[in-house]
Parts: sequence; C-alpha cells; structure tokens
Amino acid sequence: MNADFKTYCIIGDPIDHSLSPAIHNAAFNTLGLNCSYIAFRVQEGQLKNSIDSLRSINIAGFNVTMPHKVKVLNHVDRCDKTVQLVGAANTVNNEKGKFCAYNTDVPGFIRPLRKRKIGFNGIEVMILGAGGAARAVVVALSGEKGIANINIFNRNTDRSTDLANLVKKLGLNASIISNDDVQKIAYKSDLIINTTPLGMSNEKSLIKSASISKDSIVYDIVYMPINTKLIENAKTAGAQVVYGYEMLLEQATASFKIWLKMDPPIDSMKKVLFGMFGEPT
Ligand SMILES: NC(=O)c1ccc[n+]([C@@H]2O[C@H](COP(=O)([O-])OP(=O)(O)OC[C@H]3O[C@@H](n4cnc5c(N)ncnc54)[C@H](OP(=O)(O)O)[C@@H]3O)[C@@H](O)[C@H]2O)c1
Repeated sequence: MNADFKTYCIIGDPIDHSLSPAIHNAAFNTLGLNCSYIAFRVQEGQLKNSIDSLRSINIAGFNVTMPHKVKVLNHVDRCDKTVQLVGAANTVNNEKGKFCAYNTDVPGFIRPLRKRKIGFNGIEVMILGAGGAARAVVVALSGEKGIANINIFNRNTDRSTDLANLVKKLGLNASIISNDDVQKIAYKSDLIINTTPLGMSNEKSLIKSASISKDSIVYDIVYMPINTKLIENAKTAGAQVVYGYEMLLEQATASFKIWLKMDPPIDSMKKVLFGMFGEPT
C-alpha cells in the first residue's frame, strides 16, 4: 500500500444492504484512484470504540447510517452548519486529523427536484415520517422559496411535534396531520414525500392510489426496491414520481466531492446500481 492510498467506509447496523461500497468503489475504479471503500457493522454500543479505531488508522473519511447519524456528533471535532440544523450527519471527512461532519442527505434530497425544475411557490407538501431523514428533507426544503405549508404525518406524534418545531424554526408553516385526515390531505398535496422505511419490505403504502392527484409529485426516499408500493400507487394515479435511488446517488456524489474535491463519474455509479436493481421504468 503506498502513501497515497486512501480508505473510506460506512458504519451502521444493519449494513449488509448498503449499496455505498458498490457505488464508491465503482467511482474509484473508473477514475483510477488509489482508494477503497468498505462497510463495517457497528452496533449501537460500539460507536465510540469504532470511531476511536477509525482515528487510529487515520481513515480518510466515512459515511454514517442508521442508527448512528445523531450520536456520531458526540465523537467528531467539527460539525458544519447544515449538520447543526439537521442534528444529524451522514458524512465525516478527516481534515488534517480532525473529524469534520457533514450532512449530504440535504443536497442529495433536493437535487432531483431541482433537476426537474419543480416550482415550489405556493405548494402544499406532505411528509410521511419524522425521523432523521425527514429532518434533512425539511432543512433542504427550507432553501426553496414560497412553500405554503408542510403537512407532517407520523406514527409517533411527539416526533411530529419535534419536526413541526424544526419546520417553524426554519421559517416555514407546519401542520400535524391525524390518521383520519391523511388520505384527504394527501390528495391536496402537490408534493408527497415518504421518509419512513415502509416499502423496503414490500409493505402497503401509507397513501392509497385514490388519494394521489395526477397533478402531484410523489417522492419516495426508499431506494430498494426501486418501485415501492407508494411509487406504484403514484404511477397508477398518473402522478410524477421521484425515486429514492436518485437521492442515494446525489448524496453519494456530495460525499465524494467533500472527500476528494472532484466530481465522481455518475454514469459508473448508476451502472453499478441498475445492475443490481434493473433499469427503472
Ligand atoms: N435515498 C436515500 O439516499 C436515503 C437517505 C437517507 C435515508 N433513507 C431511507 O429513509 C428511511 C428513514 O431513515 P431515517 O434515518 O429517517 O430513519 P429514522 O430516523 O429511524 O426514522 C424513521 C421514521 O419512519 C417511521 N416509521 C418507521 N417504521 C414505521 C412503520 N412501520 N410505520 C409507520 N412509520 C414508521 C418512524 O416513525 P416513529 O417516529 O413513529 O417511530 C420515523 O418517523 C430509511 O428507509 C432509509 O433507508 C434514504
């Protein structure tokens, strides 16, 4: 191993399903970089020891996934402004021995919408879920002008309240939706975003097809399977869809840029993803 060799990794639990090693190694190989990316299963109580170990081997950088996105902040040296707003990080960069935390879920979420040139002015948004990803989503949305209201639906209403408070702190309007109203509000929403893991194991979608307007945009951040039940319902309703794999690729791209200060080859990353999923239809 020569002096320029850099190692990156992802820590989380479970980690077997992670597509990040495939995506990043594809980019390193295409660019001929002397880098590699591996996945480590790090259980809940092992976070401190694991990060100490990553420091001792002078790891170049790492991604963080469930359940460590919040607690990792206790073990880094610096957090950028976005991390402070979200209260969670998914990317750490080793900057001259200091571990600096970033949240690339924020740009990763918004870029697929910007690429479609979505108009945000006056729109009603519905967010399903109120966990870490939902917090990144609302921080991302707060960078867009003119959103009329963010409707929040979550199983645990304390978490809905926490998310609504963040939305208000970010200068946007928020409403908490009850189970009785969720289908009705969904129909009136211009942008419906699923941030719950529902769909990963083929569960029923929280929103029925009949509750989706053909004029709406439905964004499911679950990326496996590509066509979740919610995406299928949206297609049946004739709505526009945004796939979770688009966010996955964008957040990986943003992490890659933080680590290596260069653009990754997106086509190589896509190729390795679609090889596993099959091309989306
Ligand atoms: N595409 C991407 O790049 C990307 C990036 C980040 C995350 N994600 C995906 O987003 C999902 C959420 O991640 P996270 O970090 O936000 O997780 P999290 O912090 O654990 O939050 C999960 C949220 O989903 C809700 N939820 C979980 N199971 C549910 C169920 N059976 N029924 C109804 N609600 C349920 C939880 O509700 P309670 O509060 O009631 O528990 C909570 O609001 C994961 O599937 C993750 O893979 C995708």
